[in-house]
Amino acid sequence: MTFDLFDALPPDPDDPPRSEVLAPGAMVLRGFAREAGAELLAAVSEVSAGSPFRHLITPGGLRMSVAMTNCGERGWVSDRTGYRYDAVDPETERPWPAMPQLFRTLAEDAAAAAGYAGFAPDACLINRYLPGTRLSLHQDRDELDLRAPIVSVSLGLPAVFLWGGLRRADRPTRVRLAHGDVVVWGGPSRLVFHGIAPLAEGDHALTGRERINLTFRKTR
Ligand code: SIN
Ligand code: FE2
Repeated sequence: MTFDLFDALPPDPDDPPRSEVLAPGAMVLRGFAREAGAELLAAVSEVSAGSPFRHLITPGGLRMSVAMTNCGERGWVSDRTGYRYDAVDPETERPWPAMPQLFRTLAEDAAAAAGYAGFAPDACLINRYLPGTRLSLHQDRDELDLRAPIVSVSLGLPAVFLWGGLRRADRPTRVRLAHGDVVVWGGPSRLVFHGIAPLAEGDHALTGRERINLTFRKTR
């Protein structure tokens, strides 16, 4: 199944939020976070004032093109020793900023709307993309409890989400994600490979040349 048909239609801000099943256990909730967008972005600015965006180094020694920060009890970090969740921001040497209540509520509501009632995220990774930035295909597998879903919120410039399969070689479907769209995946889709195609140039009313992604997880 592909969603190219939807890509051809410009989003109408007056449309009621819709949802689409991506795969068993995986949904796109169209526009779910659109109304809260400006407030969410203001909260991102506050978080990044405490723990700034940075380009992490992969275990292989490459600098990631996505800039990242975190809020919540634990944050996802990468360095030459590997990937991990850490309660302390290695850059500030302080705990990550607290997860704003608005973030928590949105993530819980989105998870419930996708069939995952009771989701209790303890970590929110915040990704910042500029035109040209990409995120190569990967699985989210650093979390201890794989029964909890992933909730991923798109803000600002649109992106093409690459939704693959359970094997790295599975050819991904391209799903356009616009400001306010939320993707939730868990259950049989929890370990699906996914990524972001190089971001196209653009200018968004709220973020200018940026896309911001919030990824909520229960890490243990
Ligand atoms: C991620 O896979 O961690 C982020 C995906 C996205 O930016 O939408
Ligand atoms: Fe991911």
